[in-house]
Amino acid sequence: MQNSSLVTLANHSRDKIEYLIRMAREFEQNPNRRLLEGKVVATLFFEPSTRTRLSFETAANRLGARVIGFADPKVTSGTKGETLKDTIMMVSNYADVIVMRHYLEGAAQYASEIAPVPIVNAGDGANQHPSQTMLDLYTINQTQGRLDDLNIYMVGDLKYGRTVHSLLMAMRHFNPTFHFIAPDELAMPDIYKRYCEEYGIRYVEHQDFTADTISDADILYMTRVQKERFVDLDEYERVKDRYLLKRDMLKKARPNMKILHPLPRVNEIEYSIDETPYAYYFQQARNGLYARQALICDVLGISLDDIKKKL
Ligand code: CP
Repeated sequence: MQNSSLVTLANHSRDKIEYLIRMAREFEQNPNRRLLEGKVVATLFFEPSTRTRLSFETAANRLGARVIGFADPKVTSGTKGETLKDTIMMVSNYADVIVMRHYLEGAAQYASEIAPVPIVNAGDGANQHPSQTMLDLYTINQTQGRLDDLNIYMVGDLKYGRTVHSLLMAMRHFNPTFHFIAPDELAMPDIYKRYCEEYGIRYVEHQDFTADTISDADILYMTRVQKERFVDLDEYERVKDRYLLKRDMLKKARPNMKILHPLPRVNEIEYSIDETPYAYYFQQARNGLYARQALICDVLGISLDDIKKKL
């Protein structure tokens, strides 16, 4: 197994997370640092993506690397029956690091166990999305001035939402209080509630989603109900509009409250909210570039000192 692969942030220490935030902050000051001259970054996307793939590719380009890969598995030899194992072994011949999104939970772990180069998990099914979590942590720290002692509301698809699963686990060092708001069909799975209990993390489950419910939120983390994860589309139709954020629900919000969303959005945040000081999801997506530059460097053994020296 490649120890430097990034499959999850759940095992990262508080110090490591804070170190990665400092790395990302360097890249925010100057993203154009050619630390990866002569390297090749492969992006293998077995599931659709806009932000994750493009920000990883931008990160690699701004670091001076070259990028190979695919955005659509239909154009690969997987359609001829090639296995994930063989694909990973082949691409390892060409690239120094592989960024992979896959629809199967555990695919990134599996790839990290067989690949001779580092694997970066760009999302595996409903399981984990560590690079999203890194940019979420960066954004929370940026907007709140800290990661400790925050009220974090998670709303929408908490069952299949890999972004909320990943974030919940990485926040264990920072004494959060989580508030879960989801249709019963999409409630936070027991495994993550048990995780909270194991680490002494407080959580509250709400049925209501009103101005009063969210009045003490520091972070309101909205998510999309993911149609593509439903086997029964009638169930999707029943739940998809259950928890929508309307502008008038912000009238009691704390001044520091920020609305985050991993995006894409469908209809769960009213468009007029984009104009309010609470909306922060587009800046959040921008932070994905800096966070992913930090993660690529980290898995390739490039340190914060190396980054600071490369102005
Ligand atoms: N947040 C996120 O993973 O977006 P994409 O699916 O567009 O990559």
